[in-house]
Amino acid sequence: MGAAEAVTDALRELHRRFAGLRDGQLADYIPPLALADPGAFGLALISMDGHRYSTGDADALFTLQSVSKPFVYALALSVLGLDEVGRWVNAEPSGEAFNAISLEPVTGRPDNAMVNAGAIVTTALIPDTPDAPRFGRILDCLSRFAGRRLDVDEQVYASEALTGDRNRALAYLIRSAGPLPVDPVAAVETYFRQCAVRVTTLDLAAMAATLAHGGVNPLTGDAVVPEPVAAQVLAVMATCGMYDTSGDWLLRVGLPAKSGVSGGLIAAGPARFGLAAYSPLLDPTGTSVRGRAALGALSERLGLHLMHNPALAGSTVTLVATADEPSAAPAVSRGSAGRERVAAVAAQGALDFTAAERVLYALDEARPRETGAVVLDLRRVTAVDTVARAMLRSGLGRLAEDGVRTAVADPADRLALLPGTAEQGGHPAVRPFPSREEAAAWCVSGPAG
Ligand code: DON
Repeated sequence: MGAAEAVTDALRELHRRFAGLRDGQLADYIPPLALADPGAFGLALISMDGHRYSTGDADALFTLQSVSKPFVYALALSVLGLDEVGRWVNAEPSGEAFNAISLEPVTGRPDNAMVNAGAIVTTALIPDTPDAPRFGRILDCLSRFAGRRLDVDEQVYASEALTGDRNRALAYLIRSAGPLPVDPVAAVETYFRQCAVRVTTLDLAAMAATLAHGGVNPLTGDAVVPEPVAAQVLAVMATCGMYDTSGDWLLRVGLPAKSGVSGGLIAAGPARFGLAAYSPLLDPTGTSVRGRAALGALSERLGLHLMHNPALAGSTVTLVATADEPSAAPAVSRGSAGRERVAAVAAQGALDFTAAERVLYALDEARPRETGAVVLDLRRVTAVDTVARAMLRSGLGRLAEDGVRTAVADPADRLALLPGTAEQGGHPAVRPFPSREEAAAWCVSGPAG
């Protein structure tokens, strides 16, 4: 038993806690769904490093149903872009049930891609060409999200094709209302097929983790959709993924999520985890009762609510030392003048806008009032995005212009300060060095060195 079993233990505990919940009904409007084992219950979590954790019936197969919607929306956004998709499918919460007639009064545009009307239009927008038929594209995309080849439950497909008159009626209404350049009525059959794609709870966790991981499947490394598309899909899941309970879910659980009538439920913690549950007893909104309870509790337990962010504050800057603080600021000998102290700031981890602001603020706290020297130690920084790089280069340049001798311990040259780097906007008086000591020595010997 490894240390990481503690993560599985958290899932096991929730499984124990909610397995006794017997509330809810099996979906029966697609008859084979009513044959599901009402006791089935699986939970899974996949990290951004591709670590997999699961418990219960996490390998049991069931059909995607509405959990297919965000992934087909991702495909449409990847192919056509947000502006074009947005012309035909809005992104407003409908506040209505999944199968409601949520269409704009004059245009017939569906409210969002998570309700059936919007999902049918989204499916219709996927190109259908002889060399790449629409459903082939969809199945490929769903499979890449899951990280393995998925297939269709033909019995469930055939059954929905026989009983899906309400969805066909929706498609006819959409076609009658608006100038959609593709045929939603023809696309309904493809929509039924995407709903009948078979997955396990672990597959769902991988699919959610891929959205949380900027569109890159953390198990396979496959860049399934571009990062902006993953963010767009998560945004629509956050506001519309739980239908008429989306607001309450975002308030209490705080994660983008999507449910399906076979009992699957996913939630994504952006840059953290993909979560999934399967249990086929549904509440009146068509969401798994145990899944809703377990993922809600898991978010609370792991502190995943998007609007809470307590772990990040203070984790970027690991040292702020003024030149008067002998314990931390590097001391450098300066000939007969003896040893001189240099102010220092150290940072760690990945630097984005928020982290760069912390570093710049810390530099101001540490810097000498007038002239003097400061070293920024970036040796434990793992990544600097373009926004953070520009901010840090500009802030360090300002310090240098204020007369503060400024050097960076940046062996990987993450700020691209070395002469000859293509980037503009740095300051010639700011230099990168392999170590804090060398950076401090250069500060003391003067920028001419
Ligand atoms: O469109 C339908 O009725 C189903 N194939 C999917 C609906 C669904 O999963 C709604 N989600 N909770």
